[in-house]
Amino acid sequence: NSNNVNTLQVSSPASNVVGEQADIDWDNLGFGFRPTDYMYMMKCSQGESFAKGELQRFGNIELSPSSGVLNYGQGLFEGLKAYRKHDGKILLFRPEENALRLRMGAERMCMPCPTVEQFVEAVKATVVANERWIPPPGKGSLYIRPLLMGSGAVLGLAPAPEYTFLIYVSPVGNYFKEGLAPINLIVETDMHRAAPGGTGAVKTIGNYAGVLKAQSAAKAKGFSDVLYLDSTYKKYLEEVSSCNVFVVKGNVISTPGIKGTILPGITRKSIIDVARSQGFEVEERMVAVDELLDADEVFCTGTAVVVSPVGSITYLDKRVSYGSDGVGRVSQQLYSTLTSLQMGLTEDKMGWITQL
Ligand code: COI
Repeated sequence: NSNNVNTLQVSSPASNVVGEQADIDWDNLGFGFRPTDYMYMMKCSQGESFAKGELQRFGNIELSPSSGVLNYGQGLFEGLKAYRKHDGKILLFRPEENALRLRMGAERMCMPCPTVEQFVEAVKATVVANERWIPPPGKGSLYIRPLLMGSGAVLGLAPAPEYTFLIYVSPVGNYFKEGLAPINLIVETDMHRAAPGGTGAVKTIGNYAGVLKAQSAAKAKGFSDVLYLDSTYKKYLEEVSSCNVFVVKGNVISTPGIKGTILPGITRKSIIDVARSQGFEVEERMVAVDELLDADEVFCTGTAVVVSPVGSITYLDKRVSYGSDGVGRVSQQLYSTLTSLQMGLTEDKMGWITQL
């Protein structure tokens, strides 16, 4: 409900899409998987480089039961979005950043990786092939999910002999069931997402399987998601299962610094730049859980969640609420600036948009 101050206010451009659109309910997308027409596939052997990929009809893939990804979790994923602009053009947000992050992750997980150029070209080709699945302006986006995995067979623990790079897409709306309304988080005190020296800073698939237990328990209690603490001191904020976290106090916006256990979010990085350009002071540092007590606002960032305002955080049975009269001013401002840029409603002074 865009008239409700309890939800983020969205800019809604006039719809002007030409050509055939998929026949789905664009008004109720949510963040569920919908199969589309094509996927991109590229394979290479260990010790070699990815050379040539191709678009294929979307469908199940064949994997050895002994593949590295199934047995030892040798896999990475990425997430980025394509938006339909009101003039019909397609916009991608910083795809080279995803390519670079995948390369960092591949190095950590002992996998060969497509070059930045190969990655971006493959993303473009996949989006164009699935163009009819891009939601009309203001209705959502096409979520792009690149995967890199050890697809070759292994038995003893070792890097797989063959790798597959795959991209599929799905039209999406809001990530949380709350839509654009503030979410309610609970701080997890027993389980941790990542440890120093581990793989918390790369987008490896196991990081996400490992949070399902805490997330399910939180959801069963009515919370939207879990906020993790560091595993050493158990008192500094890390991130939410699927997104980074920011704390606002006056003109200062703080977020956990990138130190090996935090996923270097592309939305995180973009929001830091946007906030600084708007005169906020942004601190990347260790943020103690106690700071949640006297924060003015808290919000999360991620490709899937975009900018999600936090309405309350529960820690050791104590609940702190934010924005008693709806979405906080800073969260709203940053959300509007970022999404207007992503949807092509404002001039791209940052040079972040790739237009197809
Ligand atoms: C994204 O925000 O794109 C992610 O990869 C998080 C995922 C859990 C949906």
